Amino acid sequence: MVKNFNLMKIKNITCIGAGYVGGPTMSVIADRCPHIRVTVVDMNAERIAAWNSDHIPIFEPGLDAVVKRARGKNLFFSTDIEAAIKSADCIFMSVNTPTKTEGEGAGRAADLKYIIACAEQIARSASKNTIVVEKSTLPVRTAEKIKEIFTKNSQYTFHVLSNPEFLAEGTAIKDLENPDRVLIGGENTEAVSALVDVYAQWVAKEKIITTNVWSAEMAKLAANAMLAQRVSSINSLSAFCEATEADIDEVAKVLGSDSRIGSKFLKAGIGFGGSCFQKDILNLVYLCEHYGLTEVAAYWEQVIVMNEWQKKRIAQLVIKKLGGSVKGKKIAVLGFAFKKDTNDTREAPAISVCETLLQAGAEVVVFDPKVSAQKVQADLAHLSAHHTQLKSASSAPEACVGADAAIVLTEWDQFKSIDWSSVVTQMSPQAWVFDARNCLNHAHIKTAGLNLWVVGKTPTK
Ligand code: NAD
Ligand code: UGA
Repeated sequence: MVKNFNLMKIKNITCIGAGYVGGPTMSVIADRCPHIRVTVVDMNAERIAAWNSDHIPIFEPGLDAVVKRARGKNLFFSTDIEAAIKSADCIFMSVNTPTKTEGEGAGRAADLKYIIACAEQIARSASKNTIVVEKSTLPVRTAEKIKEIFTKNSQYTFHVLSNPEFLAEGTAIKDLENPDRVLIGGENTEAVSALVDVYAQWVAKEKIITTNVWSAEMAKLAANAMLAQRVSSINSLSAFCEATEADIDEVAKVLGSDSRIGSKFLKAGIGFGGSCFQKDILNLVYLCEHYGLTEVAAYWEQVIVMNEWQKKRIAQLVIKKLGGSVKGKKIAVLGFAFKKDTNDTREAPAISVCETLLQAGAEVVVFDPKVSAQKVQADLAHLSAHHTQLKSASSAPEACVGADAAIVLTEWDQFKSIDWSSVVTQMSPQAWVFDARNCLNHAHIKTAGLNLWVVGKTPTK
């Protein structure tokens, strides 16, 4: 075993996984640290080709410019994983950690097959002592498993750090350039301080929190659970408001003005989507059960139960407002991404709402400014029996032509300026607008003569 670890100045970073986290995070590191050579590798050759082209694979405001500044100088995208591991003194693992679909913990536990494959490849290919960073969101104590793989399969010394990512899609560049905090968990103080030095190039030292590895792994799961819990809490209150003539905007304003509660993440809507909230809470629930903490598991599981209920509740409400049946009716779905300013549709609430509407016999016409018609078709491919009912449009007004209702499922800024007085002339008589994101100009919609339903507002009819 080689003990002498003398690579405490990071000069060559390799990141395995060129996805929504690896791509933007490494682009910002390269941009802010011109003295570090950053190589992002992925087994998906198509994705790497896109990163090397003028059409990068992720829509994220500001990302294009960062990539253009650094790519070819100190930022490289490659499929040569082995070479990139060999040349690195610090390797980030930023691979996907989806919910397991089979075997023990299926439907709950995180599937670690990609992270394990990554660790095995690092052990096989490394040519020196290396810092290995968990960037993926992982179950608490994964670092232990990773260390075991290294000890069994390599002669070199690896320091495993946990540096979970807190960026949100749609604001990734802003979040990376000016983070609330950077979290680095690790045992070896020299390795921790080498990674602190990287972030300290642009992040104030007070914002860089160092902890033990397990706290870092757990804090990431806990942060997502707390954020999702707020969304489920405000969504539960949205239903309560609709039943009582209380107004969710007024309630949220009062809640948010209490500095102990804070004003962010109090926007009621169609339910949370995205690749992580659900998977990370399911993972937390699984881990709590594993440690015999049944009540804790049940407590967090309720955040997901409420989220599922909100999506179903609103889809059923659309059907009810349209006379109890949508068979043969045309419904414009405005927005398919799980939130604005991203082209990501993973776990998008729109998938669940479209499922309900298609299964109820509606014709569904989808428009999203950044999600292609092909992607919508692919996300709903499991409903092949209903595929003739699913259509796409190239603008919001076009989606509304002949529609009995329009339902807004993503809060894209452009939907605020839809000219409803013109759109209404193309819709069916007595048409409805369902603002499931509470993001439209409601006075304008009412003036246009449309029936309007808004999440968290008591309906007038
Ligand atoms: P992603 O699916 O967009 O990207 C992961 C990439 O890893 C894929 O391109 C895949 O081909 C590649 N990959 C998997 N195994 C590989 C291997 N053995 N060798 C080479 N490449 C491999 O996933 P993502 O959204 O970037 O998420 C990555 C991790 O970051 C997850 O654990 C997620 O929970 C966490 N995270 C995501 C976000 C987010 O906003 N998406 C934010 C914070 C944390
Ligand atoms: C979330 C966290 O915010 C990030 O800190 C974390 O790094 C990331 O998950 C992750 O681990 O993947 P993200 O899912 O990209 O980021 O986006 P969010 O802004 O958190 O939104 C998640 C969902 O909640 C969206 O569907 C959004 O529309 C919904 N939401 C959010 C609401 O309905 N109301 C709100 O007030 C806030």
